[in-house]
Amino acid sequence: MRVIIVKNAEEVGKRAADLIEQEMKQHRNPVLGLATGSTPIPTYKELIRRCKKGKGMDFSTAITFNLDEYVGLPGTHDQSYRYFMNHQLFNHVNVNKKNTHVPNGMVRGMKAIQQSCDEYETMIDDVGGVDMQLLGIGGNGHIGFNEPGSSLGSMTRIKTLSLRTRKDNARFFKSMREVPRLAITMGIGTILKARKVVLLATGESKAQAVADSLEGPVSAMCPASALQLHRFATYVIDKGAASKLTLDTYEH
Ligand code: F6R
Repeated sequence: MRVIIVKNAEEVGKRAADLIEQEMKQHRNPVLGLATGSTPIPTYKELIRRCKKGKGMDFSTAITFNLDEYVGLPGTHDQSYRYFMNHQLFNHVNVNKKNTHVPNGMVRGMKAIQQSCDEYETMIDDVGGVDMQLLGIGGNGHIGFNEPGSSLGSMTRIKTLSLRTRKDNARFFKSMREVPRLAITMGIGTILKARKVVLLATGESKAQAVADSLEGPVSAMCPASALQLHRFATYVIDKGAASKLTLDTYEH
């Protein structure tokens, strides 16, 4: 695995934007897997800056698939991941919104939900798969909303959020009661199908999860450790997130 350690969150954003830009330039219709949360915000800011500068950063032919969405929040809700993506990236670059996909959290009934999850997988396959998947990591090692204990072969499906994740995300909601309990998420198997994976982590609160996922065993108890099985997985992390790593072979 490639591990790039940089000074701070801003540098993580720049290095991640470099990787995304290089990848996009290699494809006529680049297919990007995208994440929400605090960590990728500097990356999106940098992509927007490069797009506005008109220096060859072009989203007009890009196709995007987001990792996850809360169940029960419409895209107009300011804590839905569709809303996040529109406001943090899509509204500010020349992407065609019709080519941006976020799992549908508003489908009712277990059968219909699973059908919509299966359709999400099919849509990804129909465009030839994800070229580069961007990820954050939860303090408990989750990727997407694949909480500890998730099957390493899982595909897009509904998941119950752990109490830790709900508490971590409560900062975005008025009260803990409003934090959804369920989410639709790409599975770990879906993520592993992407041709390249780039995981971003910043801050000491992620240090244990980063160390477990890179230097611990592959285990469903640390879902990000499944990336050890991927041929082209890159971590771009800051010093805080790297503070519990023990090997001295990483890139600085
Ligand atoms: C978001 C997602 C999550 C986050 C993770 C870290 O789409 O899939 O796995 O990447 O919870 O969140 P932040 O970046 O807010 O610490």
